[in-house]
Parts: sequence; structure tokens; C-alpha cells
Amino acid sequence: MADERTGLAVVGSGSWGRNHVRSLATMPGVELRWVCEKDEAAAQSVRANHPGVQVTRDLEQVLADDAVKGVVIATHAPSHAPLGKMVLAAGKDALVEKPLALDPADAAELVRLADEGERILMVGHLLLHHPAVEALKTLVDSGELGDILYVVCRRLNLGVVRQNENAWWSLAPHDLSIARYLLGTEPVAVSATGGAFLQTEAGIEDVVFATVRFAGDRLAHVHVSWLDPHKTRMLTVVGSKKMAVFDDTSGDQKLTIYDKGVEPPKSLTYAEGVRVRTGDIRIPAIRMSEPLRREHEAFVRAIETREVPLGDGRSGLAVVRALEAGSRSLAAGGSEMQVRS
Ligand SMILES: NC(=O)c1ccc[n+]([C@@H]2O[C@H](COP(=O)([O-])OP(=O)(O)OC[C@H]3O[C@@H](n4cnc5c(N)ncnc54)[C@H](O)[C@@H]3O)[C@@H](O)[C@H]2O)c1
Repeated sequence: MADERTGLAVVGSGSWGRNHVRSLATMPGVELRWVCEKDEAAAQSVRANHPGVQVTRDLEQVLADDAVKGVVIATHAPSHAPLGKMVLAAGKDALVEKPLALDPADAAELVRLADEGERILMVGHLLLHHPAVEALKTLVDSGELGDILYVVCRRLNLGVVRQNENAWWSLAPHDLSIARYLLGTEPVAVSATGGAFLQTEAGIEDVVFATVRFAGDRLAHVHVSWLDPHKTRMLTVVGSKKMAVFDDTSGDQKLTIYDKGVEPPKSLTYAEGVRVRTGDIRIPAIRMSEPLRREHEAFVRAIETREVPLGDGRSGLAVVRALEAGSRSLAAGGSEMQVRS
């Protein structure tokens, strides 16, 4: 009987890629056929842990395998675009780690290639697949929070210090992808300032403070750093009726909803102008499941149904465009830069 499992491959099994390998090697309905890895020690580790998976240094060998339907690209960021193009050109579906590319033109080319070849292109915007983000999106869409006025995102830790991209390109794709998802509009302008303390000569920022304007007068503030003593993964959503906080470092209180807000002024006198309201605080139970497994399920579902997945190439492109506007702003000392489309 023919094997009906979806044949997949992973390129790059470094510190993050090995999580892709672990999840896909044990996922029902999936046959992880290949891991492509250039580093011998990393390749050896895959052989030891997943004896049923073929390991190669040569991507062409993977792409020549007709049973491989989709390829996960988890290499360092500069290689995302060239490898993504190879995979799509070979007629395979692709899940490319974030950021989709380091240049909007390359990200747009990936989207164009996927459209032209009717391929699935997905980007590793992992947190879109987080159960708490899904619950937050449902809450936002239900109108319970009112109009979403702004969001504040803080993603801080000590490390991982990267050399190919700064903290903005490494960490902010998560925040920009969630902000876009929750606000339901596109980023239009970015002002960003930052500091390059560890790799000063190379000008690689360790910390970035950015304000992102979204269409419809919405705002996001993004603070990312790999030079901070405290691991923080926090997103605050301020609505016209209620507010919510997603704290990914919390074990059982990932999402908190605050019945807090401001009553509409009854009169225009100073004393009665603005009245704040503080009500109940609610912590909904969230059934946790691993976001990476959910991301893989979305990829496999898209391969099978040909439906556009959450976190598709276009969302990857929109995030890359906002990141690029942020880079221009960083270079210009914080001046606001328009996102180019
Ligand atoms: N979605 C997330 O939450 C998340 C988290 C961490 C990292 N990432 C992303 O994952 C990517 C990888 O990060 P990492 O920390 O694992 O990097 P890493 O440097 O530890 O691993 C990259 C691996 O890719 C291999 N590689 C590079 N080019 C190759 C090629 N052409 N063929 C075969 N193998 C090749 C390298 O040998 C290395 O083992 C980055 O883009 C990063 O932004 C995403």
C-alpha cells in the first residue's frame, strides 16, 4: 500500500532547526525524509537521534526526491531567500523561517515565485500559532476589548546574540506579525532608535525601541533586546473598552483580561472630563499545545488542501517591509520612515 504520509525535509538543523526536526520526525501523518545540514557535528546529531531520516549536505539531492512535498528552511537569515527560491523553483512547498528575507525585493520575489508556481509559501511566524495568541485574536474579533487603540510588545533576554542580523530583524518579526494579525491592518511607518554595544564596529544593534504606525491610526510600540537581564515576552493590547496582556513567560496565566478603561466624558468640565474605570480581572484557561507543532500542522494542512495558511508569504513580505523601514529609521537616527510597498 502506498505511503500516504506527507513527505517533508528540513534544511538547517542548528539550534532552532533541530526543533523542527524533532517535531516533524514524530508527527503523525508526516514522513520526515531528509535533513540537509552542512555542519558535520549537527548532521551527526541528526543521524544519532533520528536514524530513519536521510541526512545530506546537498540540497539538490533533497529536491530531486519526488516524495518530498514540502521543505522547511531553518538556516541563517541571509540564506532564506536563495534557498527559498531553489525550493519553490523545484516545485516544492516551502516553510521559511523568519525573517522571510533580509530585503523586501527578495521577499516579494519569493511571493511571486510561489504564486506563479501555485506553491504554498509559509513563514515561521511561530507566535501566530500560539494558543494564547489565537485566544487573543478571538477576543479582539469578538469586540469585547472595543476598538484596539494600540499594542505594546516587549521581547527581551540576555542572548541569543546574532551576527547576521540585529535584534530588530531577529526578534521583531514575531511582534510585527502578531501586531498585524491583531490590528488587522498593515504597518505604514516606523521610527526606531537603538544601540550597538556588543558589536559596535559592525553596527549590529542589541536593543531597539520602535514605534510602528498602522493604517487606521493604530499604533504599536516594539522594544526588543538580547542585552537585558530579564526574560520578558509580553504583549499589551489596549482597547477602547478593555485591555489584555499576553505574558508568554507565565506558566498558567498566559492571557489576562482587564476590565479597565476610560468612561466617555459626561461634560467638558475639567473635573468630569475623564473618568477611569477599574473592574474585574479575568484569566481564561488556555489549553496549551506546542506552537511549533501547530505551525507544522498548518503547513501540512496547506500542502494537502492548497489553502492559504496563517502566516503565509504575504504576511512574511509585509513584516520584511516594516523591518526594512525600521532599518532606514535606525540609520537616520530615529526619523519616521514610510513602509514601502
Ligand atoms: N520562529 C522562531 O521562533 C525562531 C527561533 C529561533 C530561530 N529562528 C530562526 O531560525 C533560523 C536558524 O536559527 P538558528 O539559531 O538555528 O541558527 P544556527 O546558525 O544555529 O543554525 C543554522 C544551521 O543551518 C545550517 N546551514 C546553513 N546553510 C545551510 C545550507 N545551505 N544547507 C544546509 N545547512 C545549512 C548550518 O550549518 C547550521 O547548522 C534563523 O533564521 C532564525 O531567525 C526562528
